[in-house]
Amino acid sequence: MRFLISLFSVPVLCSWGFSARPSRRPGAHPLIRVGGESTTCRRVHGCGRRRGRSRVRRIGWRLQSSTSETVEVRDPADESRLTVTPLSTWFAAVGGQAEQRQQFFWSWRGHEIFLDSFASQENLDKPTVILAHGFAASTVYWRETIKALSEDGYNVFALDLLGQGRSSKPYSNDGGGPLLSDTGTGSLRPALPSEVGKNTETNVEYSISLYGEMVDDFARQFKLEEVVLMGNSIGSLVCLSAATGDCCIDPYLSSRVRGLCLFNCGIGLNSMNVLKNPDFSRFQVALFSGLFGALNALIFGNRTLLRYLLNVVTEDLLRDALRSLYPRNPDRVDEQLVESFYRPAKTGGDGGVDVVAQIYTNEAGYTPMEYHDRYKDLLDSLPLHLIWGTADVVTPLTGDVGVFYCDRVANNRSGKQTTSIELVDAGHLLFDEKPEEVHASMFKWLNRKVVT
Ligand SMILES: *[C@@H]1O[C@H](CO)[C@@H](O)[C@H](O)[C@H]1NC(C)=O
Ligand SMILES: *[C@@H]1O[C@H](CO)[C@@H](O)[C@H](O)[C@H]1NC(C)=O
Repeated sequence: MRFLISLFSVPVLCSWGFSARPSRRPGAHPLIRVGGESTTCRRVHGCGRRRGRSRVRRIGWRLQSSTSETVEVRDPADESRLTVTPLSTWFAAVGGQAEQRQQFFWSWRGHEIFLDSFASQENLDKPTVILAHGFAASTVYWRETIKALSEDGYNVFALDLLGQGRSSKPYSNDGGGPLLSDTGTGSLRPALPSEVGKNTETNVEYSISLYGEMVDDFARQFKLEEVVLMGNSIGSLVCLSAATGDCCIDPYLSSRVRGLCLFNCGIGLNSMNVLKNPDFSRFQVALFSGLFGALNALIFGNRTLLRYLLNVVTEDLLRDALRSLYPRNPDRVDEQLVESFYRPAKTGGDGGVDVVAQIYTNEAGYTPMEYHDRYKDLLDSLPLHLIWGTADVVTPLTGDVGVFYCDRVANNRSGKQTTSIELVDAGHLLFDEKPEEVHASMFKWLNRKVVT
């Protein structure tokens, strides 16, 4: 019982942890040696990842429907769908409130997206920062990051992804309607303390692209001209999707992104993407896809079981699980943080069950490596900074994504030295576990590479 709960309650810990440590043929990857805390990861020898692209394709057939359809395809001509409110007039739009740190619900396609923001007119000369969280998390764990950025003169918007945190968790019954269009009115309203977004009966297919579109629409609606995207875990993939414009038919953000900062980048919407590792043999691929299939059928796709687990999970169980995600500083796990994971599990209803099942079992989208292949020019020229917690068991540095980025930095793969990485002795949620160190690295990068 306890095992099943922790399987769910630690954000995808088991499957992500597994994901990042596929068994490899010996010698296929270089060793990474890192010299203690906060060192840059230079000592990567040889070339990390074999570019077995045809092989990726071959093993990818069952994982990757690259033509995956999102539920709603946006008509590029339909600009009127969003009421565009330039950030410079945001201050008028939100109506003379003295507080610059404010919480809102932003109406997106008929859903309510929770937003924690800091916006000041004085900060308009700096790029605006958008923060995207990881699975089962919310804006709350960005508390120190929002504070640090705002004190350094940035306007910051942290969003709760649709279906998570305090945002709407649409019920996706078969009878549900398609995603709604925004009417263009009432697109922003202040959130009351503890208020959660209204759930609707809508068919939503969760994907990295859907979240990428959400971020893109947010930037479009508020006419952000210079943006820095920051993400953790799955949120990193959301940032890659939005920054490259892969999410959208008519992307707004991709020409306006000035930098990308990823904190322990994930491999995909779920761990199915590990099977794209070109070093896996056919046998391993078959074995692991069988295993994933079985786990999905028995546990992650079993809504009856998930509903039960969400009902019985307690704050104590969550606190234990969270402390294991803060291995170097477990005392940072306070009531506010526990509550931010606990409440969404209790208030989501069937929509909350559905989002968990979908995130585990849906098409995983591209890996970071695939984004770099597909959008090479764009991602080679964009300042990209990675801050990696070396005590992370969810997305360890020695996993495919960590190895890829270390190799990229150490061996100048972008050809322009636009990618940088710094390591911090912390876990998966490093910016909340070791805020000073992590933010020092973030600001150093912002000041050297972005705001020059
Ligand atoms: C889902 O889980 C429940 C409870 O553990 C179990 O009774 C049911 O058979 C499972 N359904 C499927 C399709 O595996
Ligand atoms: C990085 O690669 C580019 C292109 O290959 C090269 O011109 C540049 O000198 C390299 N920089 C370093 C420091 O190796």
